[in-house]
Amino acid sequence: MQNQIKPFIKWAGGKQKLLQNIRTTYPEKIVRYCEPFVGGGAVLLDVLANHHPQNVLINDINPELINAYIQVQKSPEDLIQSLHQLENCFLNAEPDTRKQIYLEKRNRFNALLSHSGNQYAIEKASLFIFLNKTCFNGLYRVNQKGEYNVPMGRYKTPCICDAHNLMNVSRALRNAEIRCGDYSQCLDFIDRNTFVYLDPPYRPLSDTASFTAYSPDKFQDAEQIALKKFIDRITEKGAKFTASNSDPRNSNDNDDFFDNLYQNYHIRRIIAKRTISCKGAERGDVSELLICNG
Ligand SMILES: C[S@@+](CC[C@H](N)C(=O)[O-])C[C@H]1O[C@@H](n2cnc3c(N)ncnc32)[C@H](O)[C@@H]1O
Repeated sequence: MQNQIKPFIKWAGGKQKLLQNIRTTYPEKIVRYCEPFVGGGAVLLDVLANHHPQNVLINDINPELINAYIQVQKSPEDLIQSLHQLENCFLNAEPDTRKQIYLEKRNRFNALLSHSGNQYAIEKASLFIFLNKTCFNGLYRVNQKGEYNVPMGRYKTPCICDAHNLMNVSRALRNAEIRCGDYSQCLDFIDRNTFVYLDPPYRPLSDTASFTAYSPDKFQDAEQIALKKFIDRITEKGAKFTASNSDPRNSNDNDDFFDNLYQNYHIRRIIAKRTISCKGAERGDVSELLICNG
């Protein structure tokens, strides 16, 4: 594998560490690629760097995340300039002042959330990346009013502006179509030549797990069942897919939810290290599911 480019943000459920396993499910040739729940895009960037698909569609329901992708694609130089300013200001400050700067930038980001036009698009994208690099664990979490409320992390010298990687990601995204909304709106793009990687918010491992808390959008059993119907439709169209999800058997040996739901497909169990969790008991190695029709 050559030309490694990495995600420009840290994202809950990021797949960087599972790439070795996920790669084994790619079809030999990928000419058309779709990722309906793109998040940090670890698989996307792996596919773009190593398989060079001609047509690409990425999608996510989070408008700030999607704005960041659009600015990286269209205006990387302006974005880098804005991020350099934020980086210099933050890294040259004393710890107490850093906290103040973080809170100021978070307030500014929240104040801009209601502006959907182009006027603040670069500023919003650079604040989004800045907060992602300096907040606790790279979490994206909003309160009931929709305001981003993650506290500052404890990084000594966070890399806020990786200009080289941002330029590489921008080049790789050159021909990609970028949409914001529900995954179902990707259906029109998907045909028999498309490889689709689906990484939805995971079904929580237990009633108390807060793993889907980075998004106000619930993804419970009813949503998982609706997603399976979508997967049936793209399979009928002749597309190849791989889907990731949590393995319910980690917390309950008898929970066959996905084994039953996806009984007509191939299900593999792989070992993952879970890092984003508030509770120590949920850290450590867990099994995850890779579901395919190939
Ligand atoms: C598990 S994350 C994807 C992680 C990604 N594969 C990575 O490597 O970073 C799930 C993503 O689905 C998005 N999402 C949640 N509900 C959605 C929906 N109904 N349609 C599209 N995207 C959705 C979330 O915003 C989040 O970015």
